[in-house]
Amino acid sequence: MLESIHVTASAPGKTILFGEHAVVYGKPAIAAAVDKRAYVTIKGRADNRTHVTVEELGVSGFLDLENGTINSDKVGEQNRGILEYVLKSLIKAQTTRSVEVTVKLDIPIGAGLGSSAAVTVATIMAASSYNQINITAHEIAELAHQVELDVQGAASKIDTTLSTHGGVIYLSKNAREFVNLEIDYPLPMVIGHTKKTGNTGKLVELVRKKIEAQPAVMNPIFDSMEAIVNVARKALVNGEHETIGLIMNINQGLLDAIGVNTEELSNMVFTARKAGAIGSKITGAGGGGSIIAYCPGRVEEVVTKINQHEKAFQINIATEGVRLE
Ligand code: MEV
Repeated sequence: MLESIHVTASAPGKTILFGEHAVVYGKPAIAAAVDKRAYVTIKGRADNRTHVTVEELGVSGFLDLENGTINSDKVGEQNRGILEYVLKSLIKAQTTRSVEVTVKLDIPIGAGLGSSAAVTVATIMAASSYNQINITAHEIAELAHQVELDVQGAASKIDTTLSTHGGVIYLSKNAREFVNLEIDYPLPMVIGHTKKTGNTGKLVELVRKKIEAQPAVMNPIFDSMEAIVNVARKALVNGEHETIGLIMNINQGLLDAIGVNTEELSNMVFTARKAGAIGSKITGAGGGGSIIAYCPGRVEEVVTKINQHEKAFQINIATEGVRLE
């Protein structure tokens, strides 16, 4: 009985530590997979309809795998996105039989923690396993990146790489290779996120226009971001806390300079520093979304202070990437 077979896969979200935006122009970046995951369960259906439910969003819809369309008029534009990722992931994993897909999200949506990449990666793994296709982690990451390109139009490989492989990863120039950074101490990190969400596509476009208008001013900023990533790589591996904090703060200044800061993000950045963080910066696209604070010995103070106005939580590194549950 097909209906009785079910497979669950999960994949972690991520946070960018250094190099957001610059990575779009081929610069290196460092990101960490975080201990917040997306869980995707796939089981067979007796009828010939494929259906998806995303519990935390209250979203559900029917998918047409043959024509690649979503058949649900109940899905608002805002929530349609997540169904697009699931649909394209099922197709990439060569799903032809009708299935019931349940997505459970431990990752806050719109906080820049890569929830769509985590859902994509977990769906590709669960569907491949359900379809009895052997797939390597490298293949999952490649297919997931193609799904992101299909749905978003543009995307770097950061989110899909981290959700697939886990750990802390240095993505080299032009994403030619990724290096797993061996960090043998718990990174004391806090995420603070605002209710306002930034639109990654629009922010990337805004930055692109600035570069076109002022290349002589903007290009050196991106060179500095690259230098920061290279200093950070060594500092993170060696546990040089003061250096990590210092360059996070410099990186924040540069993100402000390229125009992706907001008043809410800035307030959180300063709240974190006042509460004892030695470094704090925007993580991800900005324009809303999240900040990350580096707070050795002060995690609780930073979480408490940010929580007075916005939402904050501690994160730990997820060493494991995508996995079958
Ligand atoms: C968004 O999380 C990070 C950006 O660098 C865009 C990308 O890498 O695709 C702004």
